[in-house]
Amino acid sequence: MTAEIETSVDAGVLSIRINRPEKKNALTAAMYAGLASALDQAMDNDGIRCTLLLGVPGAFTSGNDIGDFLKMAMSGQRESNAVFDFLERIIMAKKPVVAGVDGLAIGVGVTMLMHCDHVIASDRSTFKTPFVELGLLPEAGSSLIGPQIMGHHRAFAMLAMGETFSAEDARAAGIVSHVTAPDALEERAISAARSIAAKPPEALAQSRDLIRGDRTPVLERMQEEAELWKARLTSDEARQAFMAFMQRGQKKAG
Ligand code: COA
Repeated sequence: MTAEIETSVDAGVLSIRINRPEKKNALTAAMYAGLASALDQAMDNDGIRCTLLLGVPGAFTSGNDIGDFLKMAMSGQRESNAVFDFLERIIMAKKPVVAGVDGLAIGVGVTMLMHCDHVIASDRSTFKTPFVELGLLPEAGSSLIGPQIMGHHRAFAMLAMGETFSAEDARAAGIVSHVTAPDALEERAISAARSIAAKPPEALAQSRDLIRGDRTPVLERMQEEAELWKARLTSDEARQAFMAFMQRGQKKAG
């Protein structure tokens, strides 16, 4: 597993930390594979009763690595199915997933939260899905589940207009459970995960299954989105947006 995905187990909680601070926790194919494998660990290990997703101070994740996007846009091929493997696992996770968000949550850093059961965010966090700006479209089944959670207008503002939501906006929209101070974030997220892990597991699992309902339509929508993505990734709109981002980095360095 890549060193940029760190895992540890304590008190029945599997903590998964995204740790690539120099790139604001942008996710590469190897990191998605690490996330997928960590979620497999949660599924297979009876001692794990809850999963906790964390980032680094100031960055939960800035979303998919745009350099990887550009490679895919130029080659016309996905480097691997790792993104899909991760998303499928989080959508179908059999055990509760908690997230602790401090700072940037962009793209998949927002859509993955829609599949979590409990999300604590620091008050300085921001939530943005610039899919359309990048010539892309919503992923991770968010085009289905987003409007179900937030209502059409807020989902359109977030997923199509790419508006930035504050932590309070995200809480009001229903993708964040509680907002807290940055220095209390991790303690609060760990405490929530531990309290979930301490509950009677069978009763909790049955309750969660009923609350979440059938996930098949979400998986089907994710497949549909993925088919459209293939074409969008190689579109002129997307190529131009990816190149503009990469050149912005070079300009800053020069
Ligand atoms: N993919 C690849 N690299 C990324 C990245 C991403 N998603 N997000 C940040 N980085 C890199 C930057 O290129 C920069 O690298 P460098 O130091 O080698 O130049 C480094 O991380 C720090 O980012 P920087 O842009 O300097 O920080 P910032 O605070 O000014 O802005 C963001 C942070 C996240 C707002 C900005 O980097 C950004 O918009 N990233 C793209 C987010 C995105 O569109 N994700 C895809 C969603 S589908």
